[in-house]
Amino acid sequence: MNIALFASGTGSNVQALITAVEEGRLDATLVCLVCDNPQAAVIDKAQQAQIPTLVLPPSACPHRQAWEEHILAFLQAHQTDLIVLAGFMRIIGDTLLEAYPKRIINIHPSLLPEFPGRHGIQDAYEAGVAQTGVTIHFVDAGIDTGEIIAQESLAIPQEATLAELEAAIHAIEHRLYPAALQTLIEKGKMDK
Ligand code: GRF
Repeated sequence: MNIALFASGTGSNVQALITAVEEGRLDATLVCLVCDNPQAAVIDKAQQAQIPTLVLPPSACPHRQAWEEHILAFLQAHQTDLIVLAGFMRIIGDTLLEAYPKRIINIHPSLLPEFPGRHGIQDAYEAGVAQTGVTIHFVDAGIDTGEIIAQESLAIPQEATLAELEAAIHAIEHRLYPAALQTLIEKGKMDK
């Protein structure tokens, strides 16, 4: 299974997937990284792991579709089977959705459908809910709306700070993402 990673920021989830492949917990090849942010720390992490990287902000292209077509050509050049979003802060448009139907996966730091959007952890924290969690789901044309693959919940202790909650959520993400992808591959839901 050839996985293309998409990320925009720190890349702690990308690092967790790199480590899972190295340790034999994820039976896949990380064939490339797509990054829309030239300042992102994830670029270094991919470089260290010798993963070919395309850094391409949408502003470098005349329009959205041209941006997606450029990315698609890069993915095809690396024989991508599956796209795995890990902190990718852009909406995936029709060009990629049509090229990879049910083959684009995202991780979101809340129990979807609760708290979609950019600030899932903070929104749950500020809402004062008793529990939140992590969701792994297929990507469709909506924002954080696709079919759910796996979820893990976490009770929020009353005295927890936002930073503590973020750390707890990220720890779940780093364990759950490789495990859920491996289950998906093993179940043969992915036919390659
Ligand atoms: C993660 O919390 C992920 O769920 C969300 O963006 C964050 C990315 O963090 N979509 P990192 O760049 O993987 O450290």
